[in-house]
Amino acid sequence: MLNDFVDVDVLDKPYKIHIGEGVLSDFNSLLPENLKSAPLFFVCDENTQVYAKNISGGQPLYVVKAGEDSKSFSELQNLVSWALDNKIDRHSVLVAIGGGVIGDLAGFAASIILRGISVIQIPTTLLAMVDSSVGGKTGINSSHGKNLIGAFHQPSLVLCDLDVLKTLPEREIKAGYAEVLKYGLLGNEIFYAWLQQNGQDVLDLKPEAVKHAVRVSCEMKAQIVKEDERETSGRRALLNLGHTFGHVFEAEMGYDGRLLHGEAVSVGMVCAIDLSIRKGWLDEHVKDSVLAHMKQLGLKYKIADIGIPKDTDFKKLYKRMFSDKKAKAGKINFVVLKEIGESFQSNEISEDDIVATLTSCY
Ligand code: GLY
Repeated sequence: MLNDFVDVDVLDKPYKIHIGEGVLSDFNSLLPENLKSAPLFFVCDENTQVYAKNISGGQPLYVVKAGEDSKSFSELQNLVSWALDNKIDRHSVLVAIGGGVIGDLAGFAASIILRGISVIQIPTTLLAMVDSSVGGKTGINSSHGKNLIGAFHQPSLVLCDLDVLKTLPEREIKAGYAEVLKYGLLGNEIFYAWLQQNGQDVLDLKPEAVKHAVRVSCEMKAQIVKEDERETSGRRALLNLGHTFGHVFEAEMGYDGRLLHGEAVSVGMVCAIDLSIRKGWLDEHVKDSVLAHMKQLGLKYKIADIGIPKDTDFKKLYKRMFSDKKAKAGKINFVVLKEIGESFQSNEISEDDIVATLTSCY
């Protein structure tokens, strides 16, 4: 099977995403010409150490503790100190091998070490392949919230080796699939129809199906990032479909690992669809179609299924939405749908709308 690639044509530093089976075994030959002789510094976690050891060939390797807690100031400091102790220079490259936590942490470290060095992203989860490794968002968490400290720092290369997905728990694959489905819903009706036919093959990691799903997702993300690299025009914000709801579910659950980001987004997208119908922007049959698809594949689709207690004060969840990065001048921007494949942002949404949606999606 031939591998695919996607070009990400960001202005100052275009890069490639390679997608396929066995991509990692071609690591050296896939390095861009200008990085072929650069000193490499590898960053991974306990779960992805095996891949890092295979390709690092004795070059410096830093192992982070797996889990969201590692996206912290203290771990950032440890990582940067390790790099400086090992005499990292401006021609060096950080190679991040792992899921979103490693990509975000190492990407942010790369953006500040010696005022910015190159980073290569090697995502090892479906979610990281289709979302967090592409587009240059990096960062850490603080007591004020998730991803509130960070930088836009585009990678120089992204390598999606589909073989590494084979060791992921099914739950992780389903959580990553929610972000794949997001692309169909927000901007690609044909892809949504393809997922309806082939979604189970993607979850079963059938090679051609998963490669197609990752490639189309990356193509869509690359196009949106090209149009609005720094999320200023509103175009990139469409990638947050389901995320304003999802982020409050995650905050409510305390980021302790009980709720995966993709699961929160999955339920969040159902809420966004319900809200769009409630506001009269979207036809009711869309919710039936998406729910049928999610149920068929065993995705999370109800708030009750992700650990949020029944007696939760939904007005409190609404208030929490104001601490989202995307809230502006006291208004929250929700990504909503007009039809499958057509999304837009609206801040014309009241507390009553949100409480009604949360009640109906519980
Ligand atoms: N995950 C949303 C974005 O990269 O813009």
